[in-house]
Amino acid sequence: MLNNLDSKKNLGLLSDPKAESIYLSLTQKNHRVNWKAELMSSNTLKAVDFFCSAGGVSCGFNQAGIEVIGGIDIDSSCKETYEKNNNAKFLHADVSNLDKKKMGKFFGIRRNQRNLVFVGCSPCQYYSNIKTDKTKSKETRLLLEDFREFVEYFRPGYVFVENVPGLDRKAGSPLEQFKEFLNEEGYVFDEDVLNAKHYGVPQSRRRYILIATRLKKQINLPEPDTENIITVHEAIGNHSVFPPIEAGHQDDSEFKHSAAELREINLMRIVRTPHDGGDRRSWPDELQPTCYQTHDGHYDVYGRMSWYEPAPTITTKFVSYSNGRYGHPEQNRAISLREGAVIQSFPLDYIFYSDSQGTIAKMIGNAVPPKLAEQIGLRLIQTHRNAI
Ligand SMILES: C[S@@+](CC[C@H](N)C(=O)[O-])C[C@H]1O[C@@H](n2cnc3c(N)ncnc32)[C@H](O)[C@@H]1O
Repeated sequence: MLNNLDSKKNLGLLSDPKAESIYLSLTQKNHRVNWKAELMSSNTLKAVDFFCSAGGVSCGFNQAGIEVIGGIDIDSSCKETYEKNNNAKFLHADVSNLDKKKMGKFFGIRRNQRNLVFVGCSPCQYYSNIKTDKTKSKETRLLLEDFREFVEYFRPGYVFVENVPGLDRKAGSPLEQFKEFLNEEGYVFDEDVLNAKHYGVPQSRRRYILIATRLKKQINLPEPDTENIITVHEAIGNHSVFPPIEAGHQDDSEFKHSAAELREINLMRIVRTPHDGGDRRSWPDELQPTCYQTHDGHYDVYGRMSWYEPAPTITTKFVSYSNGRYGHPEQNRAISLREGAVIQSFPLDYIFYSDSQGTIAKMIGNAVPPKLAEQIGLRLIQTHRNAI
């Protein structure tokens, strides 16, 4: 029912051809099973996804036509979601002390495999501009170095790294050394800060991206499409897919259109927030949080999303109305888990296996948007075709 385009047409919901193509692109079935059967040639790109979480990159790579062998993560709560949606192996391990030979055996990969991609989207909290305590995330700061050791040992044909833009600026970042290493090992690379909204994702999300190969003299990131920006309305505005719900609504189905509860004060606040992009500047003084009473700025916090713009960056806290501009454009609640997943461009049939809303929100917010990963994957495939 959810993916039935004809029923949407019959209901007159998709009379606009642009809406129809966006609907198709955001709701297409996960390609996970088909590719495995079709693509067994040695020229097919295969990938191992380090720090895979719930599989944003793996999902996008599968959609591009890369055979994802499996992923590695220290957090076992994403195992079921990763394995079942991507039909790929999950290695529960800490990359910083993982034995390379054992890892190679587990995934059935060899050294110097030309058709292999190593994906290294390590945790980004340490480099992020979001003001959080960095003590804990300090431990994860050097995981790019650990990833580099795997690249050095296996010498895969291709490498893909994603992180927050701070990775290329912050003191102590291992990025410069990583790039030096790539140069020394005969890899060429392209790097830039890309915005996911230019790659078919209904969300403004700036991320540092690097792709590298040792098989060609040049590799280029995919070009941005600055014309076709998908809006929040195009992504989650369809009531037959996302029926109106209230704060605290619990969807026990796999679809997980569940919204977090709101405290009474926050309910009063969101009721007083103008629809379609409003924020706390419209509240009376008695509703203003103490910390903002004399503070000008940070108007995204407690704001509603705008219907006709891409969504703001989805973080692991996106179900919480007080953590950013995560208010629904017109309903009195934060966006639901499934709405967040669609804004991250996960297919509608991607199932998040957990009973905890917080765990699912973390998997969704942490992900590299699959549509962005798909564009990267397509570029790697194109590069590989020219290299063989
Ligand atoms: C930003 S998320 C990765 C998102 C993922 N690439 C995607 O597209 O969905 C970072 C992941 O790194 C994992 N991680 C953190 N430290 C790790 C370690 N030492 N070894 C393996 N995984 C680790 C975290 O559990 C988290 O799931």
